[in-house]
Amino acid sequence: MKISLTNADPVKLKTSCLVLPIGDPKKLTGCARSIDNASSGYITDILKQGDLSAKAGSTLLLHKVPNITAKRLLLVSSGGAPSTNAINFDRMAAAQAKALNQAKVKDATSCLTDIAVDTKPVDWAARSVAREMVINQYHFDQHKSKKADRKPYKLSLHIADKKNNRLAETGAGRGVAIANGMQTTRDLGNMAANFCTPTFLAEHAKTLKKQHASLKVTVLSEAQMEKLKMGSLLSVSAGSAEPAKMICMEYKGGKANQKPIVLVGKGVTFDTGGISMKPSAGMDEMKYDMCGAASVFGVMRAVAELALPVNIVGVVAAAENMPGGRATKPGDIVTSMSGQTIEVLNTDAEGRLVLCDALTYIGKYKPDVVIDIATLTGAVVVALGHHTTGLMSNDDKLANELYDAGIASADKCWRLPLWDEYQKQLSSNFADIPNIGGRAAGSITAGCFLSRFAEDYRWAHLDIAGVAWRQGAAKGATGRPVPLLMEFILNRCT
Ligand code: BES
Ligand code: MN
Ligand code: ZN
Repeated sequence: MKISLTNADPVKLKTSCLVLPIGDPKKLTGCARSIDNASSGYITDILKQGDLSAKAGSTLLLHKVPNITAKRLLLVSSGGAPSTNAINFDRMAAAQAKALNQAKVKDATSCLTDIAVDTKPVDWAARSVAREMVINQYHFDQHKSKKADRKPYKLSLHIADKKNNRLAETGAGRGVAIANGMQTTRDLGNMAANFCTPTFLAEHAKTLKKQHASLKVTVLSEAQMEKLKMGSLLSVSAGSAEPAKMICMEYKGGKANQKPIVLVGKGVTFDTGGISMKPSAGMDEMKYDMCGAASVFGVMRAVAELALPVNIVGVVAAAENMPGGRATKPGDIVTSMSGQTIEVLNTDAEGRLVLCDALTYIGKYKPDVVIDIATLTGAVVVALGHHTTGLMSNDDKLANELYDAGIASADKCWRLPLWDEYQKQLSSNFADIPNIGGRAAGSITAGCFLSRFAEDYRWAHLDIAGVAWRQGAAKGATGRPVPLLMEFILNRCT
């Protein structure tokens, strides 16, 4: 999508659709006021009739507004006030994108950045508008025999004060890159598991490297992982014909001596549960069990596209969890790379088994912070539903940074505790640690398990089982938590 800027008088703009934010309906400001004046109070009249609901993100499409050159007007409510917060602004940006799609226009000019957003500068608002515009154009037809033909879209951002052009341009560029990253995440997530195997993910990393010379990619084979004694990770792929892969992507945009942010993604390309097999209803959704890995790919793409001044390592622990003659059985004991022995009481708790070896392996990068991203537990859906990512951490400052990034990017997470009481649920009669901690607090005990392998650095765990994909008619990967991670990374760049 092409995004340009304009500082022209909105009354004289030639566009298929002019988007106006509506703050206080009784006191229009900025572009909305100019248009209202030019059209002799046309908008005020309509607002008086109450046709636009005051809820943030409600929209109203108007045709044939007198005395202006725009063909249509799209009014977007801010929630009734001249300024709004990040979450509501993002709702407005998303609503604008959806309404423009519905109107089937192919070019539009948006004055959305007219509305003030808390303490956020114009580049933040431009980013949100650009991201929502691009991501709402997303369409997945990789597996359809007939592909939809897609016309390019032109969006112009109206910036009231020319002085803000540079900021807006940076913001829009970032928004597009974040949406591109989300697109990668969604594509990989949506792909069928007979295509998207660990080997395919490794190939994808190499493709990404071809597009971005700034990336360095290394892939560990099963033989190499055996040498490194990754007995836990390998116990997950043991029942599968698809070999596991450990995929490492290094991006060095920061100072040579700057410790990297390390992202670790769960890349279980299909989770049958293994010998502790899942019921068949809805099992197809377990192709999404690599969405943590997909979000790491998405972030690496966005970071490389933006050439950000930061050092990041993205690691994907990829394996397929299948039953089979060589599959790990309940009660089997495996030795992790850390040396800790694990009693595999349930082969369906496989995410933590692939992640723990990755968490040990990445110690070699001397990380500043480590964030793992995983569709780890069904229990997090019970706790937080499909709205919020589960956040766990061994560091309060890191946890707060991620929480704040979630609010600012409208991609929220909420912290759960890793207190000793929960750690005690992990006890095994036969090994150092079991891979499950009983029915109660399932997400937390999974986090506790991981924490045993992340003691040497500041670490956070994002359980995205509830947010990574949608069910029902709009079934598909969401691209979360790429916005959250990008917000976190951008905050560390500036
Ligand atoms: N991939 C699943 C988690 C999951 C389940 C994500 C449902 C989204 C929807 C994970 O590997 C798993 O099976 N976890 C088990 C853990 C249990 C055996 C302790 C679960 O949540 O049931
Ligand atoms: Mn499982
Ligand atoms: Zn799983």
